[in-house]
Amino acid sequence: TYVIAQPCVDVKDRACVEECPVDCIYEGRRSLYIHPDECVDCGACEPVCPVEAIFYEDDVPSPWAEYTRANAEFFDRIGSPGGAAKLGLIEHDHPLVAALPPNAQ
Ligand code: F3S
Ligand code: F3S
Repeated sequence: TYVIAQPCVDVKDRACVEECPVDCIYEGRRSLYIHPDECVDCGACEPVCPVEAIFYEDDVPSPWAEYTRANAEFFDRIGSPGGAAKLGLIEHDHPLVAALPPNAQ
């Protein structure tokens, strides 16, 4: 899977959402999250993020290593909806993201 890391927080450019062929990039309050079971590893999202927040799971920079787990755990309460568009904005964040000060990136 691919992972959205800290640079997305409070930026939420959403260019990645337009690129994803399986609509597996979900919007939380302060960040977006990639569904690890729905992502087909096409890689289309990674180059379009203007703040370079997206990484292949093996390439997440070490300061942001916890974001691999955070992206997965974001879906603990949502499951696998099979598409982000129908959910729209999901009014919560992973605790890792929620705990960041404003504009922490
Ligand atoms: Fe975030 Fe970059 Fe997508 S800022 S919403 S990961 S384009
Ligand atoms: Fe979508 Fe990016 Fe995965 S475009 S399929 S989230 S690699």
